[in-house]
Amino acid sequence: MNFVEIHDWLRETDDRRLEELWRTADDVRRRNVGDEVHLRGLTEFSNHCVRRCAYCGLGTHTRGLERYRMNADEILACADRAVELEYGTIVLQSGQDSGVSGQWLADVIERIRQQTPLAVTLSVGERSEDELALWRRAGAGRYLLRFETSDRTLYERIHPDLPAGQAGLNGVRSDRIAILHQLRELGYEVGSGVMIGLPGQTYETLARDIELFGELDLDMIGSGPFIPNPHTPLARNGDKHPAPADRQVPNSETMSYKVIALTRIICPQANIPATTAVATLNGRTGYESGLRRGANVVMPNVTPPRYRALYEIYPAKAGVEQDGDYHSLLKERILAIGGRVGEGRGDSLNYINRRITNKEVATCAR
Ligand code: 5AD
Repeated sequence: MNFVEIHDWLRETDDRRLEELWRTADDVRRRNVGDEVHLRGLTEFSNHCVRRCAYCGLGTHTRGLERYRMNADEILACADRAVELEYGTIVLQSGQDSGVSGQWLADVIERIRQQTPLAVTLSVGERSEDELALWRRAGAGRYLLRFETSDRTLYERIHPDLPAGQAGLNGVRSDRIAILHQLRELGYEVGSGVMIGLPGQTYETLARDIELFGELDLDMIGSGPFIPNPHTPLARNGDKHPAPADRQVPNSETMSYKVIALTRIICPQANIPATTAVATLNGRTGYESGLRRGANVVMPNVTPPRYRALYEIYPAKAGVEQDGDYHSLLKERILAIGGRVGEGRGDSLNYINRRITNKEVATCAR
């Protein structure tokens, strides 16, 4: 599928034609990655963040938010919980937290890897190449870093660089695509994605985003609707840079499914989650609809309930209610749509097959 076809699907409004897109994506998903739905235990271990991304509630612009950072034992308890729930992976996610040192996180990763069979995925923002290498050696096999949008002007507007003169990657031009290449070189399974319906995002831009997923040969791709957060600059000033109305992408549920479906067609062997943001728009059947339109992963929240409400990237985020009952119900929901609950770590087939083709098997993720 080429750029023009992706673009035309994004603009498609005929429900009968869209049924065709859903069916194609579902077929491609079944033929390439099968009916297994992989569950990942999402652990939001710190809501500290040094950045001020205009869309996100964790940025330094959100004053009055109580900040937390879980200690290593608390994170290990989340890993135990993920094992108990029979998940194969723990996703360690946080803001870009300068209080999380490379060595501290490396120790946490090592403990998880020694004490559990879990695969470890990191989602901790833009960090130095040395840190990424350290964490890879400690046993983290996967890394998620959304490039958010391929439109550089829009990106710079919503994702300001850090001012020079503090610790970390300050004064460095934010270049997430470059970091994705570093991650690939280091042997990570590489994940990225975008937000859907950012103010100023056009259909052309979003089509380019999806095309780029394929060019980057991503192993995991998670995208979700932009949900305005009233505490953020973008919600307050969002209409300062609008796209012309007929070119602006809506942040709708249907648009989110279109992105999932087209992503599956462009990246047939990738792991693609039905994301929390989709479930936030539709708590009742959002996960199911995503899973029937190309997705094969769900990331249920295993963060201790007292911290969840503080990880407020956007309002009314799904997952706050996900308790023990919820986890068993989720498995029933997967069976009800003809899926099977994935067993084992659920490594990305895209990654495995690339490593085999490149004869890099010996250094495959531990
Ligand atoms: N709406 C939807 N998604 C958001 N994210 C951050 N803020 C929002 C928002 N307001 C997404 C970004 C980030 C991921 C962790 O959460 O894409 O990479």
